[in-house]
Amino acid sequence: MPILAGMPAWYLKKAIDDYAAGRRPSPEMEPFSKMVKTLGADEVAGYFAAQPREASQSKVDRTAIANGRTASATCAACHGEDGRGNQAKGTPDLTGQPPGYLLNQMKLFKAEKRSPGDATLTSIKVFMKSIDDKTLADLAAYYSSLGR
Ligand code: HEC
Repeated sequence: MPILAGMPAWYLKKAIDDYAAGRRPSPEMEPFSKMVKTLGADEVAGYFAAQPREASQSKVDRTAIANGRTASATCAACHGEDGRGNQAKGTPDLTGQPPGYLLNQMKLFKAEKRSPGDATLTSIKVFMKSIDDKTLADLAAYYSSLGR
């Protein structure tokens, strides 16, 4: 599960919209996303965005972090050198998120299970498919380690 504290409101709202519409398939999140929309997505997103960021406490291996840093050059074009994302490009902040969450999302992209059929994400999925799972785990460790 991602850390919501400090998540930029625009990205949280996009995730809620995608889950609620079934574009980002999740049996767990679809009903709750519909509830958030009924309650008021602006208010809920604003509430989490205003909370101080807290990085994941999950342990990450130093070797994995170093390997992930080396592998991250291409990611930086979209997610930024600091991994903090860019609203104009629609890219989320990856820093400090739990490594398990980051890895799972990359595997979902790779398996065409996150936002299947979303043409705007095709290049990301093609790119993820070209990276082996060990390197994806290294990338997850690296981005999780940033901002701690
Ligand atoms: C072409 C631009 C692009 C590149 C290159 C790219 N990403 Fe992304 N990434 C995105 C966008 C856009 C999203 C948000 C998709 C959405 O809105 O669902 C995203 C989402 C993610 C997510 C999900 C985060 C979350 O909060 O759910 C992870 C993890 C991720 N990217 C990791 C990476 C890594 C690691 C690399 C390098 C191997 C990479 N990305 C390369 C554009 C890119």
